[in-house]
Amino acid sequence: MSAPPPRVSASPAASKLHATAPPPFLAAGRGRGRDALVFAAGVAVATAVLVLLGSSASVVLAPAGTSTSSLLVASPIPGPDDPPRTFYDDPDLSYSAADGHHRLTGWDAKRASWLRSRGLLLRRSPEKVVMVSGSQPEPCTGEAGDHLMLRLLKNKLDYCRLHGIKLLYNRDFLHPAMTSYWAKIPIVRAAMVAHPDAEWIWWVDSDAVFTDMDFSLPLSTRYRDYNFVAYGVPKDMERKSWLAINAGVFVVRNCQWSLDFLDEWAQMGPAFPEAHARWGKVFKKDLADKDSDVACDQSALVYMLLSNRDRLLGKEKAFVETEYFFMGWWGEIVDRLDGVAARYDAVERRRSSPELRRRHAEREHVLYAAARNAAVRGAVPGPPGGWRTGWRRPLITHFTGCQPCSGGRNPTYTKESCDVGMRRALLFADDQVLRAYGFRHAGPLNDSVLPLPFDYPAADNLFILGRKQSKPELVVESYASTTSSCVTYTLVPNVPSYYDHQDGCH
Ligand SMILES: *[C@@H]1O[C@H](CO)[C@@H](O)[C@H](O)[C@H]1NC(C)=O
Repeated sequence: MSAPPPRVSASPAASKLHATAPPPFLAAGRGRGRDALVFAAGVAVATAVLVLLGSSASVVLAPAGTSTSSLLVASPIPGPDDPPRTFYDDPDLSYSAADGHHRLTGWDAKRASWLRSRGLLLRRSPEKVVMVSGSQPEPCTGEAGDHLMLRLLKNKLDYCRLHGIKLLYNRDFLHPAMTSYWAKIPIVRAAMVAHPDAEWIWWVDSDAVFTDMDFSLPLSTRYRDYNFVAYGVPKDMERKSWLAINAGVFVVRNCQWSLDFLDEWAQMGPAFPEAHARWGKVFKKDLADKDSDVACDQSALVYMLLSNRDRLLGKEKAFVETEYFFMGWWGEIVDRLDGVAARYDAVERRRSSPELRRRHAEREHVLYAAARNAAVRGAVPGPPGGWRTGWRRPLITHFTGCQPCSGGRNPTYTKESCDVGMRRALLFADDQVLRAYGFRHAGPLNDSVLPLPFDYPAADNLFILGRKQSKPELVVESYASTTSSCVTYTLVPNVPSYYDHQDGCH
């Protein structure tokens, strides 16, 4: 995003604080003389009104850009700490993605102005992220559907806590027609307006599981020049399959380009019934593998991006990630997770990596994650974030087609494979989280936990396949499938060193 220079609102807030002390945004900057004059006039009027109203009421000035003579007297607003006026005070501001009458324009300047008014403009490193996910307003109808939704939410909560990301979980249809898979667009757009301090909004479908708690999105490096990133498959993009780009996980920069992009996407949705019906037929005709003529959010995204490559793909526009599991399909992943875990354990067991085994506070997670990523880089093949070849942890394992809430699975998958796969992925992630609390699960599909000995997983403390691991450097080559788990990790109980270090209280 190349944000135009911020414009400072000429309309001051009218609290008592601001009547005596100018707000910080007036203190510096070029070309603000006129603003200061308008401010001074506003203060004079506001002070007069305050005198008339007494201390229990305050005033609201007219929206930015109108003259101070149209001063409005309104109901009480927050008093002494009332900060400068911003775009939020504009009565025409719309949060809606499907509101043809109130397009949000000039967002980059509005956002910059808000950040400046709160003293946040220069403090945007690391870039702030708000993750947004959600599920339907009603209870799930599938067996244990609500329990699964809770576990899937817990997984996102864990990832966000570890990475200092705010999580917004939504269960409302913000536009009555934008239901089901279309519901994400209104909430993502509203989140951009509600979080001007966030540089990025990261949408993650409810049925996507974080399976690498160490990985941080390369937002300020690889994605620095882009505004929208989703996962895609090059060969499917070539033949314009509606499955070529996945709409279930995407990250979008909080800027005007993105608002316009989301509006364009939303306009193919059910909030615009005639266009929606027309687009459904176009997608069925033009996109490979599409056998329904109902326009879904993903066909709309694929069509939009692939039919407008020059306009929408490229720098300062959209980017399709094809090199790691920004979002991986569960069928390609879950049976390999035990093999991934074994390789990470082997790296941590090495005599040369005592720092990776060091216990630490959860708030230091990102530091230890970086050290672990550096250690596995040469030892475990594959790109960070995981890939179908190699054994790095996949960032996201997406259970597309399993429909955990409704239970209405894609008939080509069995209930067993979906359920076992999901439990496997969730426990795989939970073990990474529980580590900071001194525990891990008793096995890949076992809900019981075991305490971790000091210096875990050093070979002295660990038995594999019931035998003490003789060669600590050895990578376990065999791995379990989700249906026939054969590699199990057994911790030796009562390892003295663990208890020797319980010296926090006396
Ligand atoms: C899970 O692990 C616990 C503790 O090791 C064990 O007692 C239990 O039998 C295991 N459960 C299953 C289903 O394997």
